[in-house]
Amino acid sequence: MDDPAGDLARLLGERFQDADGLDTRFAHESHVRMAAHASMRDWADRPLPDALLHALAAVALCSPTKSDMQSRDILVVTDPERKAGLAALIGPDAWIAAAPALLVFCGNHRRQRQVGEWRGIPFANDHLDWFFNAAVDASIVLGSFIVAAEAAGLGCCPISQIRNRAEPVSEFLGLPERVFPVAGLAVGWPGAPGRISPRLPLALTVHQDRYQDGGDEATRAAVEGYDRWRDERQPYRRQRRVRDLGVAPFYGWSEDKARQYSVPERADFGAYVRARGFSLD
Ligand SMILES: Cc1cc2nc3c(=O)[nH]c(=O)nc-3n(C[C@H](O)[C@H](O)[C@H](O)COP(=O)(O)O)c2cc1C
Repeated sequence: MDDPAGDLARLLGERFQDADGLDTRFAHESHVRMAAHASMRDWADRPLPDALLHALAAVALCSPTKSDMQSRDILVVTDPERKAGLAALIGPDAWIAAAPALLVFCGNHRRQRQVGEWRGIPFANDHLDWFFNAAVDASIVLGSFIVAAEAAGLGCCPISQIRNRAEPVSEFLGLPERVFPVAGLAVGWPGAPGRISPRLPLALTVHQDRYQDGGDEATRAAVEGYDRWRDERQPYRRQRRVRDLGVAPFYGWSEDKARQYSVPERADFGAYVRARGFSLD
């Protein structure tokens, strides 16, 4: 990497339509790698040692954690039979079943309750915040793991589908009360080059000093501009829900996301979380 500043500017230009003018002179190779992130669903046939996964898990767990509570755990599943069983519960996708490793990032509020019980001190915070804290802690570790794994040359793809059948997955993994899956992660050596997935304009998602909302019409214009910019680079290969919603003459990101969530998904997740011992009030 001879020119990290130039590489970073190029990668941010591929990702964001309004990246011009960003100062990349600070660039370090780690920033270039982060900007080159691409979820991977294609695996090379190359052994992936458990010891490497555990070292990367340790690196990921160095990330910050709310109140030093460390309310998150990582399950590493590589035993072929266990992995096949988990993949079968997650869903039919071949890339999940074929992944050399499946990790599960869990929120863990169990330990917080245990330490209170052991010390004989009552827990006075049985409300939504503790579910949220554990979910955020697990999400931070998920992101850190991806950065660490990609720096080691691995490819990853998070799997929220693991929550489609949260109850049987929890039973399969032996998750105790107040421990819940936030996301799975397929991990392996990449079998194909990564593809940069364009993001919404920075003008919509980075705000200076206060939330800047130019109004509904301005937001719509920006999103539809992104739809077109993205379509020129990476048109969607297929349309969702054509049978119900027909073929869209122009199919951009906003059409795809609207269609994706036009059907209920994981409507039972709240009930699952409550059954695991959380109050969501
Ligand atoms: C929490 C989380 C859950 C995800 N779940 C899935 C999933 O279940 N299936 C999938 O194919 N991709 C999943 N992804 C990957 C996203 O689709 C992907 O990050 C997004 O399309 C942007 O692409 P990129 O990561 O290559 O930049 C998930 C990503 C995150 C952060």
